[in-house]
Amino acid sequence: MFGKPPKVYAGAEGVRVLVPIRGYLTPGESLVESLRRLSATDVFRDLARELEVWPPNSCISNIERVVLHWLIYETRAKAVLEIGSFFAGTTLFLSTSTLGAGSGRVHTIDPYGQYRVPYILRTWPAALQAMTTYWPKFACEFLVPNAHLPEFDVILIDGDHGYPSVLHDLFASYANARHGGFLVVDNAEQHQVLDGCRDFAMLNPGVEIARLAITGTDSQGRYVFEIDDALNRIDTSTAFVVIRKPRQIFLNHNVLGFQLNDFAGMVVRKVQVSVRNETARSIVMGGKLHLRALDRDANLSPKAYDLGQDFSVIVPPGRTVAQLTTTRLNLPSDAGALRRFVEMDLFTSAPGDRLLIDRVRIDGLDVKPGRNFPSV
Ligand SMILES: C[S@@+](CC[C@H](N)C(=O)[O-])C[C@H]1O[C@@H](n2cnc3c(N)ncnc32)[C@H](O)[C@@H]1O
Repeated sequence: MFGKPPKVYAGAEGVRVLVPIRGYLTPGESLVESLRRLSATDVFRDLARELEVWPPNSCISNIERVVLHWLIYETRAKAVLEIGSFFAGTTLFLSTSTLGAGSGRVHTIDPYGQYRVPYILRTWPAALQAMTTYWPKFACEFLVPNAHLPEFDVILIDGDHGYPSVLHDLFASYANARHGGFLVVDNAEQHQVLDGCRDFAMLNPGVEIARLAITGTDSQGRYVFEIDDALNRIDTSTAFVVIRKPRQIFLNHNVLGFQLNDFAGMVVRKVQVSVRNETARSIVMGGKLHLRALDRDANLSPKAYDLGQDFSVIVPPGRTVAQLTTTRLNLPSDAGALRRFVEMDLFTSAPGDRLLIDRVRIDGLDVKPGRNFPSV
């Protein structure tokens, strides 16, 4: 399901061909600026016109479809996710666009669509069916940490619009998005959706936000819209938010957790954290390193052997490689442990301090925030 996409091609039988849009992500330009520049072009306006009536069952605005198309082309998307399939109208669009942009897969999830979506997909051109997968799951079932999901280039968040779900979908999508990838959040004219976006942005320094709000129509019936980064305005008929995940990993006062699962050894020999301090003053990076093991009788008494090591490193302006020392798991033998993992938490010690993480290595293995499975 997550493997290599089949070899299909744009222009395959029955597949609509959409004009390619790329080349509008200029380094140094903000997302709002890029979107403003793009939306002033003829190619944007013409495609928006074409998408006013296609696909018929898509529940998002044609403007949002053009933006998704652009992001899919710009990222040459290999993996796209839609949370909330409904009648798969937007799914058809995402798949058509992804096929045109190269060779990617589209996953669409909806816990209530099992008696609808598979049958709709079967009416599609074969090439699109082959690269699209429907999952009858809630977002919280699909975006679980150890599901071996691909890193998504573009994720459309359009499931449950209550604040707790929106916040979950944002955090879980973010964790599963490629660095430099995009989240698009529909219905940002709704309070709970916008509140979710605002709180998510507050807790994730380094993300870039753009809000596109439809404010009316012109004399030819085309949508008039505004683009900004305001996440406190509910005065429009419909709006959506685009979030760019930064290429780098930022570290601030919130803990960033790294977990190396199925760790083979009993000792961590070397941990290297390479960070950049872009400010003019020193910043203190704090951390905690654990080696944990769960006993074989974990089902009876889940005992975690925990050899915590606290550390703090002063990071002067510029680049620093902090090297941490050996920690040993206090177990009588290898055989005693059912499951072992190394956990490391990193944070800056003062609110407002921010570091850029270049690389984290545990015993020679590169690890990213979240769970890492070296054996898979
Ligand atoms: C607004 S519709 C989606 C519209 C669709 N994306 C489109 O553009 O045509 C919302 C869908 O989200 C689904 N949904 C509700 N809760 C969900 C959840 N927790 N995870 C995923 N999908 C959910 C609903 O069943 C519904 O079909």
